[in-house]
Amino acid sequence: MTQVFQPAVLGSLELQNRLIHSATFECMADENGAVTDHLVKRYVNLAKGEVGLIIPGHLYVHPRGKAYAGQTGIHDDRLIPGLSRLVDAVHAAGGLIAFQLAHGGRQCPKKVIEKAPLAPHGFGRDPASLNKPAAATDADIQEVIASFAKAAQRAFDAGADAIQIHCAHGYLLNEFLSPFFNRRHDQWGGSPENNFRLLKHIILAIQQTAGQDRVVIVKMNTDDFTPKKGITPDLATQYAAWLADLGVAALEVSSGTYYTFHTVRGEVPIDDLAWALPWWMRPLATVIFKKQVFPCRFQKLYHLPAAEKIKPVVGDMSLILVGGVRTLSEMDKVLSASKADFLSMSRPFIREPFLAKRMQQGKTKEATCISCNKCFAAVFNGLPLRCYVDGLP
Ligand SMILES: Cc1cc2nc3c(=O)[nH]c(=O)nc-3n(C[C@H](O)[C@H](O)[C@H](O)COP(=O)(O)O)c2cc1C
Repeated sequence: MTQVFQPAVLGSLELQNRLIHSATFECMADENGAVTDHLVKRYVNLAKGEVGLIIPGHLYVHPRGKAYAGQTGIHDDRLIPGLSRLVDAVHAAGGLIAFQLAHGGRQCPKKVIEKAPLAPHGFGRDPASLNKPAAATDADIQEVIASFAKAAQRAFDAGADAIQIHCAHGYLLNEFLSPFFNRRHDQWGGSPENNFRLLKHIILAIQQTAGQDRVVIVKMNTDDFTPKKGITPDLATQYAAWLADLGVAALEVSSGTYYTFHTVRGEVPIDDLAWALPWWMRPLATVIFKKQVFPCRFQKLYHLPAAEKIKPVVGDMSLILVGGVRTLSEMDKVLSASKADFLSMSRPFIREPFLAKRMQQGKTKEATCISCNKCFAAVFNGLPLRCYVDGLP
């Protein structure tokens, strides 16, 4: 009997199975960041598809942390009714939902936030937007901490079952954790303890505002794959131990930033990624994307080596494995060897929202997603999330 479909405990939540929908940006919110019917429909389908826990796409906690037009917000009390409608609809369909809280940091394009992107340090330019970031002051950092705490409170006020703090993929909290992005020499940078301080203060502020008993999950990079050394599996292991000490319920292990395609290994759809770029940027973008093809090719369970390294230090904190999870037999192997406690998928659920239920019913053993990454290119270019395997319009 497969362990995948047995009920399992994550923090104080009982999940109907060990499958999680990993946060996936939908590009479906309105211009104010409010929830739309389109978004609700997507998650009702996943709940009907019997996914154990649903984590929708990252929600920006502060207007300066908005990474994309079309992103859902949680930075203002006025957004609570929409978020509440989403939670109620998922609950009514039998699902559980966790909101992923994010600040896009230096990866927020200036054209979206209308000011310089916030970062630990002001060096260089973002590889995607080419915008120059501004180094965060102490006051900015305090505002970031307060924004996460208030956003967490809004998530729970809206009825969410848990929150996930987004510390992966090159966004602000990843940047503070990373020796590549964080070149500060004050209490917020310069050593692993200092780099971790912002995340620690955010977790403590959330626990104080929303209560110690709330389920807090973290998604973190285990490798940044930046041009110079960033987070490595060794550093991630140290951070994971500290997260366990802070009472975090679960850790989802990921990798990559806007510098590379390691987050979503698979095809690099060069033409589709350049789809909305002005003609004069396309030749340079094509050269850059071509360099990604080999190092970021698809591998099954591509964060498993990092998970194996981290698992021994996490104690009671659950470990969630994401990245290239595709077949029931692999899922079973990971669980029976206790290499992770939950399995999380993004792209397979875009194509097959009913995948979990169909697997449980024995109708399929493997996701049909081919990791072509056209879904990724689509939302990157402002199109709503769906499977675009046959091409962008
Ligand atoms: C279109 C798209 C949007 C994504 N948006 C998010 C996001 O909002 N937050 C996040 O943590 N990861 C995001 N990811 C990464 C996924 O959660 C996941 O970590 C990654 O796709 C690897 O899992 P998979 O092989 O099952 O797709 C996104 C991935 C895709 C393809």
